[in-house]
Amino acid sequence: MVRAGTAMTAALRELTHVVGPHHLITDADERSSYEIDWTGRFHGHTPAVVRPADAAETAAVVDVCRRHGLAIVPQGGNTGLVGGSVPLAGEVVLSLRRIDEVGPVDRSARQVTAGAGATIAAVHRAAQGAGLRYAVDLAARDTATVGGTVGTNAGGLNVIRYGGTREQVIGIAAVLGTGARIEHLQGLVKDNTGYHLPSVLCGSEGTLGVVTAARLQLVTRHDERVVALVGFHNVAHAVEAVATWRSALDCLEAAELFLDGGLRLVCDSFGLAPPFDRAWPVYVLVEVAAVHDPTDDLAGAVASASDVGDVAVAGDAARREALWRYREDHTLAINTLGPPHKLDVTVPLVVLGEFVVDVPRIVAAAVPEARTWLFGHVGDGNLHVNVTGVAPDDERVDDAVLTHVASLGGSISAEHGIGTAKRRWLHLNRSEAELASMRAIKRALDPGGVLNPNVLFPTPAG
Ligand code: MLT
Ligand code: ZN
Repeated sequence: MVRAGTAMTAALRELTHVVGPHHLITDADERSSYEIDWTGRFHGHTPAVVRPADAAETAAVVDVCRRHGLAIVPQGGNTGLVGGSVPLAGEVVLSLRRIDEVGPVDRSARQVTAGAGATIAAVHRAAQGAGLRYAVDLAARDTATVGGTVGTNAGGLNVIRYGGTREQVIGIAAVLGTGARIEHLQGLVKDNTGYHLPSVLCGSEGTLGVVTAARLQLVTRHDERVVALVGFHNVAHAVEAVATWRSALDCLEAAELFLDGGLRLVCDSFGLAPPFDRAWPVYVLVEVAAVHDPTDDLAGAVASASDVGDVAVAGDAARREALWRYREDHTLAINTLGPPHKLDVTVPLVVLGEFVVDVPRIVAAAVPEARTWLFGHVGDGNLHVNVTGVAPDDERVDDAVLTHVASLGGSISAEHGIGTAKRRWLHLNRSEAELASMRAIKRALDPGGVLNPNVLFPTPAG
């Protein structure tokens, strides 16, 4: 759909008129960081990056692109991991980063309205300043944006306690593919007046509308926090322990799993001392947070689990952060080995233990020289199967793992979305009837097919 020659020149002239010459980027060097994803696996090309200042300019940009038949990729912090926010088919990049205002916190409703380009860290700061907290948190918090996390329905570290992004979004402002603006930001919790558009747009990966702002629910700030890192002999016992802790600890906020190989890679990559004198095959990091000190509750729960090896407990912020680094730095450490294939999946908790044992074998059978790294949000069955040593376009491992996940009744995308990386396998999780209804919604909200037309659907939506 990308136009060449004079048509493109005319479109770029109109876009310059909308955002001003400083915010239409056509210079190759300046464009480059918008054209490649965070992992380095997905690299495209765009005729221009357009950076609107507000919702009105965003609507005008969509309108110009729609009239000229230019496809758009909306982009926030560009921390996506499935090739959904980079211009792989020559799309115009619509960067929302300038729309980054975080409004005043409404303490009585416990809500805040944030612009699409506000980072998750900025929302955290605003909530914190009002004695509250935003429930979505993730390692990319300093760069990931509200718009991007709404577009992908990001999960993150605290889903077991609060749910994902969709559960926090109670109002939305967006520009649809028709060019129409919708804005429903009153934040009324009880509001049964028809289709819940925040839910429709959340997780739609920029295919239905460009999110410009979101009204976000905030939660109680629990200042008493304790983190424990626990070594286990085997995965089955680790998974069993997490299930027990979920029932026993109301204040359980995160339960993250990683393996010995990943821990060693993190320590080697960043010069960290290992947490214990001896290595354990499996580690679980748990965080509890409450109004009153939850240390005794956590210690009691850990002590009652079977097969517990070494345990490290951290109450103060610096030591908590030091323990979290072993988990959060997995993403950075794995990327030092070259662009990984990121297979972000959920499997039913009853098969999670055997899945962790089976996956490296499945990967090795598909590509013997590949290496598997497993870590993730074990409390909700979401594991990040990262595979290194495979060429970016070699999809044998992806096929083997995702097919296996589906055969177990799991999801091929737990929290990163489908993007371009996984659309080939969407049929594993979605029936023909579901895909047809999704396409019908796409056609209704984006009849010209300008909004991120090359993601999500196995073939471009039309
Ligand atoms: C994480 O949980 O760390 C993120 O989803 C990032 C990743 O999968 O690498
Ligand atoms: Zn994750």
